[in-house]
Amino acid sequence: ASLKSTFKNDFLIGTALSIQQISGNEMAIAKWVPGQFNAITPENLMKAALIHPEWNRYNFEAADRFVAYGTRYNMKVNGHTLIWHSQLPFFIRRVKNADSLRHFFTEHIDTVVSRYRGKVYSWDVVNEALEEDGSLRRSIFLELLGENYIIEAFRLAQQADPGAELYYNDYNIEQPQKRAGAVALIKKIQAAGVRIDGVGIQGHWHANDVPLEKIEQSILAYAALGIKVMFTELDLTVLPNPWDSNTADVSASVNGKRAGMDPYPNGLPDSVQATLSRGYANLFRLFLKHRDKISRITFWGVNDAYSWLNNWPIRGRTNYPLLFDRQNQPKPAFFAVIGAKSKK
Ligand code: G3I
Repeated sequence: ASLKSTFKNDFLIGTALSIQQISGNEMAIAKWVPGQFNAITPENLMKAALIHPEWNRYNFEAADRFVAYGTRYNMKVNGHTLIWHSQLPFFIRRVKNADSLRHFFTEHIDTVVSRYRGKVYSWDVVNEALEEDGSLRRSIFLELLGENYIIEAFRLAQQADPGAELYYNDYNIEQPQKRAGAVALIKKIQAAGVRIDGVGIQGHWHANDVPLEKIEQSILAYAALGIKVMFTELDLTVLPNPWDSNTADVSASVNGKRAGMDPYPNGLPDSVQATLSRGYANLFRLFLKHRDKISRITFWGVNDAYSWLNNWPIRGRTNYPLLFDRQNQPKPAFFAVIGAKSKK
């Protein structure tokens, strides 16, 4: 069974990948990925710090290979991400005035998007520009360029590649306050006469605590703006988050609270597999219900070995958030997702 064929009439199925995963010793992954997925997002390599390390120097090597890989296997490449307050190049720390930052901003978007014109299907133009209360995040962009920087980013991206789809991407924008901020932001972009094609709800949730109702309300609210809805960084952690009051005592018996630990050295217990399966199955049933509004579901990592959750919020803690295990074998959650389709 494959994800992409199961959902071929519903939505694209994507995964995040690093350059290591499609190079050298990891070539087996590179060949396996196109059997399951028809969309890819670079997990880090297109972020400004990596693709634009110095004022006048870009490093396109990894991104070129990544885009060529997607093209070769006929997978849609989603560029991630043009404007983000995090993973910025070091030189930006020395920028203190609006003119310099505007120069970087304009030139960066134009250079990167133009290079991949006609090859990158879509861009996460702006990432994580909102605070939890729905106001604009206090970033260097807001501080020096003012609140219209977001509209400007979309305008520049559209100029550089009129054929690419352009998205706003963020986490927790299924939560009512932040969602209201995202809806207002999208309306503002539209009111300025600038095109925005879709919104990406990242989807980093806890397997035990997937906010299904808020997700459904969000699908409806964003679709009502006339844009595509996507889930762009889906994973469901199975471990407690010490800073999250909702999940801090979930699996309290798990000792995985220290760095470098595997809380399940003997394998993931059936009960946890079942929780993960239930979380994913409920989500996919909801996605299928709204398949006319949802264009892509992308997982944030190809298998458990490559998940960022192995290093967050606790460094080196072994996590199990995806559909495939560390040997690329499908977990029960994979079959639960496939089953969500047939039991629809
Ligand atoms: O490549 C270096 C390596 O050379 C070095 O030895 C090592 C030591 O820490 O760091 C490596 O870089 C790490 C990089 O991932 C590649 O593994 C960075 O420290 C680490 O900060 C970086 O984390 C990435 C994170 O974004 C950065 O904020 C994660 O891989 C990536 O999954 C994560 O992705 C974000 C999305 O872009 C936006 N939404 C949230 C999502 C999860 O945080």
